[in-house]
Amino acid sequence: MADWNEDSLPGLDWRTRLIAPAPNPPAGFHSLAPAVYRGSTVVFARLSEAVDDWRQAERYTYGLYGTPTTLELGLRIAALDRGYHCFVAPGGQAALALVYLAYCRAGSHALIPESAYGPTAELGEDLLAGFSVEIERYDPLIGGGIAALIRPDTALIWCESPGSITMELQDVPAIAAAARARGVAVALDNTYAAGVLFDAFAHGVDVSVQALTKYVGGHSDILLGAVSVANEAAYACVGRAHRLMGMAVSPDDCALALRGLQTLGVRLERLERTALVVARWLKERPEVAAVLHPALPDCPGHEVWARDFTGSASVFSIVLADDWTAARTARFVDALRLFRIGFSWGGVTSLVMAYPDSARLGARRERLVRLNVGLEEPADLIEDLRRALEQA
Ligand SMILES: Cc1ncc(COP(=O)(O)O)c(C=O)c1O
Repeated sequence: MADWNEDSLPGLDWRTRLIAPAPNPPAGFHSLAPAVYRGSTVVFARLSEAVDDWRQAERYTYGLYGTPTTLELGLRIAALDRGYHCFVAPGGQAALALVYLAYCRAGSHALIPESAYGPTAELGEDLLAGFSVEIERYDPLIGGGIAALIRPDTALIWCESPGSITMELQDVPAIAAAARARGVAVALDNTYAAGVLFDAFAHGVDVSVQALTKYVGGHSDILLGAVSVANEAAYACVGRAHRLMGMAVSPDDCALALRGLQTLGVRLERLERTALVVARWLKERPEVAAVLHPALPDCPGHEVWARDFTGSASVFSIVLADDWTAARTARFVDALRLFRIGFSWGGVTSLVMAYPDSARLGARRERLVRLNVGLEEPADLIEDLRRALEQA
């Protein structure tokens, strides 16, 4: 059934005319900007074409399963990841939840590194425990030793490298090899690498997750996540869950992510340079006991980073000297002016966060501070840190 207009159906009531179909995009308007296609319902020419099909690549069926804008973002991320396909989710945490739901059933066992982003582990230990999924935390430095933890009911092994806040580097290829030998899926939170500094699929991962909120968005103004899959089997598994979870994403946010992708390369280069200048300066300071930045040769796991990554990113942590108390650490954080106190990372603004209540950080929790450098001049950031360290 062809679209109608006032010429093809004359004499309609004005209320009916208000419902005119959306016009086609104007011929000859070759804009450089990502187009925003909104839409829940898409219409079909005949009933036989109205197939309710979640398989996103083939045709449009309903906005939830893809619009030109949301599918374009998925295609671009899949191409960058060198994956088979990428599903876009409403946020990084939603993307992580999608992977759990795709692979775990009642009675499943899942392994997650102790260093993982807190809410990922909490989702397993809280909501999923209620559905009889058992979550076991493992030492992030376990490498191929993960084989000893794999059980007949193990359905999923999570990796995150470097780990959130504590920055441990994981031997992902060794973990993936052990998992593959037992037929267990490996999912990686690849947000640190922005999907590009670590080639997840070349290193044996089945599913690579990214919070697009961070580097791809790049300006602290959207929440989006991506789940890239390595092959048809992972596509079918994640795709089914994506459809049933109703993970709708805003085409407007996807268009912002598509815009962010255009400057991802230059931003990452600049952020890496600035982070290294700042990290090396902090290493020389008497107030700082350790700088946890994977590109520094004495950072635990540096050799894994040098082997597997093509660059480093904007986020790293410092451990203040042994005699610093939680109160002094808080005075330092409060004294910073350019580093704003805020969660998240990967945007243009430098950020700082401390975790005095985190049991996971053990004895370091009073003295560990995470920094995210932004696009400010390195000399200004160093001056901000110098002044705050001295004031504290
Ligand atoms: C490593 C990591 N993964 C996932 C997420 C979740 O992303 P989002 O904030 O988009 O839900 C975060 C957020 O801070 C993160 O740090």
